[in-house]
Amino acid sequence: MTESFETFEQVMQYAVALAVRGEGHVEPNPLVGAVVVDDRLRVLGEGWHAVYGEAHAEVEALESAGESARGATLVVTLEPCCHHGQTPPCTDAVLAAGIRRVVVGIADPSPHADGSGLSQLREAGLEVEIGVAAESVTRLNAPFLRLVETGRPWIHAKWAMTLDGRIAATGGHSQWISSEDSRRLVHQLRGRVDAVLVGIGTAVADDPLLTARPPGPRIATRVVLDTTARLPLDSQLVRTAADVPVLLACAETAEPDRIAALAQAGVEVVAGPVDDRGRLEIENLLGVFGLRRWTNVLVEGGSEVLGSLADGGWIDEAHVFLAPKLVGGRRALGAVGGEGLPRIPQAANLVCVETRTVGEDVYWRGVRLRGGESPDC
Ligand SMILES: NC(=O)c1ccc[n+]([C@@H]2O[C@H](COP(=O)([O-])OP(=O)(O)OC[C@H]3O[C@@H](n4cnc5c(N)ncnc54)[C@H](OP(=O)(O)O)[C@@H]3O)[C@@H](O)[C@H]2O)c1
Repeated sequence: MTESFETFEQVMQYAVALAVRGEGHVEPNPLVGAVVVDDRLRVLGEGWHAVYGEAHAEVEALESAGESARGATLVVTLEPCCHHGQTPPCTDAVLAAGIRRVVVGIADPSPHADGSGLSQLREAGLEVEIGVAAESVTRLNAPFLRLVETGRPWIHAKWAMTLDGRIAATGGHSQWISSEDSRRLVHQLRGRVDAVLVGIGTAVADDPLLTARPPGPRIATRVVLDTTARLPLDSQLVRTAADVPVLLACAETAEPDRIAALAQAGVEVVAGPVDDRGRLEIENLLGVFGLRRWTNVLVEGGSEVLGSLADGGWIDEAHVFLAPKLVGGRRALGAVGGEGLPRIPQAANLVCVETRTVGEDVYWRGVRLRGGESPDC
């Protein structure tokens, strides 16, 4: 039976669900979904942006609707493009298909867009409505919007902790706090982001590989924050640097010999400024990532790195695995170190968007509220 809806809001939610299928495949492009409906909101065609550089969602939806698109309504999560990029302008395809009305979630803030797609459609006599299910569409594309608007990626922070909030036992041992099912989910996350980042404390303590196993739609660069460039040459990260990229961020004062040895082993070394505590400046680093058009960065710890990010207000989304274990001990590391805050009212507001049991653990995912948003759990 043909899918049908009662409101454009519902059609847009459906388009959002289609768009999610592009996650990990299309970045730094936005996730876009599109649906062609008739006057009774019955679906005539649908599509999503599936592969970076290939057909846009509107074109896919119009193609799947075929001739029935004439006189119909196109519901699309993002303003259609009107410029020649890697593909021809979507506005041309919309006009050629004979669409009568276009219902859009949000405008495209990219410099090359800026409302011109919508004005072109209005000038051609189409009815254009914008702002339908805008909150969901904004959430869908929060990483894309962050990159376009600030030149910095969306920061996912992930940690696995015991019931008493520890990410390692008193001796620094942390493998494994979470269940195999939870770790599988982490590998899925790694497989759709642009970078997976840890501090040198974690790189030395755990000697992690940080790859996605099995691989996902994209290969994340593995990043280590290592002021003095002391990452061991026999670490798993260095030994696999020729196969999966490793970027080591260090201070400009790091030993040239260390930098040369790491570079010789295939590690890309990026030297940058440090803050007044001698730690790598996070804001500068995120700007470097943004220049590479990294949209999603997954930070996997440890406590000090997560602390620096929390102190600077850089964490956008948290993925927390709560394991039914108790380790105790004053010296056992808490999930988020750094300077912290003196009073609870100053605490960062993260709002739950997903919670479920994964194996024997509880998975909690939340996003940071930055004014005006009200996500549901
Ligand atoms: N359960 C989990 O999910 C999980 C995940 C990861 C790690 N862990 C555990 O956490 C422990 C490691 O955590 P950790 O807190 O000791 O180390 P960490 O956060 O991995 O690394 C901290 C180090 O990174 C370097 N760094 C450079 N720039 C920095 C910046 N801007 N902010 C913070 N650090 C910066 C500093 O060393 P330099 O000054 O030498 O550069 C700093 O001491 C291990 O026991 C590991 O097993 C647990």
